[in-house]
Amino acid sequence: MNKVKIIGTGSYVPSKIVNNNELSHMVNTSDEWITSRTGIKQRRISEGEDTSDMATKAAIDVIKSAKIEANDIDLIILATATPDSFIPSTSCIVQKNIKAVNATCFDISAACSGFIYGMDIAAQFIRTGRFNTVLVIGAETLSKIIDWQDRNTCILFGDGASAAILQSGNEEEILSIYTGSDGSKGKALICPAIPVNNFCANPGISLNKSTVSMDGKEIFKFAVKVLVKLVNVLLTESHCDLKEIKYIIPHQANSRIIECAAKKLGIDSNKFYTNLDLYGNTSAASVGIALDEVYKKNLVKSGDKILVVGFGGGLTYGGLIIKVI
Ligand code: ACO
Repeated sequence: MNKVKIIGTGSYVPSKIVNNNELSHMVNTSDEWITSRTGIKQRRISEGEDTSDMATKAAIDVIKSAKIEANDIDLIILATATPDSFIPSTSCIVQKNIKAVNATCFDISAACSGFIYGMDIAAQFIRTGRFNTVLVIGAETLSKIIDWQDRNTCILFGDGASAAILQSGNEEEILSIYTGSDGSKGKALICPAIPVNNFCANPGISLNKSTVSMDGKEIFKFAVKVLVKLVNVLLTESHCDLKEIKYIIPHQANSRIIECAAKKLGIDSNKFYTNLDLYGNTSAASVGIALDEVYKKNLVKSGDKILVVGFGGGLTYGGLIIKVI
């Protein structure tokens, strides 16, 4: 089996910042409520860029950081819940934009766990030798599926993209990976697509609104439960102790989820790396943006271990432990 190395990370967020006060002019909310219930202070919102535009910029950033050429990439996996179109896939649009002419491309749908699922798929393909250099992207234009009249959800999300390039190497950088799903709880977080309304099916079916709705309390409970489970499973599988982990990078959903999980794990919440105050919940882009920040700020050095965990719609969850080379 080949060994897997992360040879670069990248990210991109739109320049438009929308703070909590601005949202309080759109829905009945306040900076105080949003900050105390979620930890979010502001988010980036697209002024017209679609998911492929942001994904392309994150891809250009990671190609630079990995010091490779676009035509070295032989697989592009793009995780998103907000593709530009049903067809073509957003990964194929990115391929065209960056001229990664040798790549096979496909999108995956795992909501906020998408980046982790993408890393898992990439690692397996590299281990078996099927592909050598894989670009993983998590990108979302959540602002296009948010109901901007719904204060329960519109305060939570932001737009952005993140990327990583994985390649076969001499040393193993991914010590453990674990993923899971619970479709039975899927209704806790939904965004409907087009219903079946053809000449063979029931005519007159009404078109659902394609916006996000969520059972916040159910998601909160799920998130805390799986976050704790993921940390424990990943540590066991990699024979690591929590003390050896420099940072836990969680999906950036809500600071109270992180505080609850920290309490259950018996650790200081400072061990969790967060930037959700600046970007809100960017779904599939979230952990990758945070990981890129940790690398670019030189917060980790060779030998440090990082535990990355995601959870979200599906419901889905997953995580990995990285030993920085
Ligand atoms: N501003 C002011 N009041 C609000 C707002 C708002 N933006 N949103 C809800 N409220 C009100 C509610 O209407 C309710 O009022 P009522 O008591 O008169 O009915 C009151 O505040 C309390 O609402 P709750 O839903 O009980 O608030 P809660 O403390 O549970 O916080 C929240 C809501 C922040 C959504 C919380 O449940 C949560 O964080 N859940 C996790 C969900 C999450 O992070 N989802 C992200 C996407 S999923 C993912 O990434 C995994």
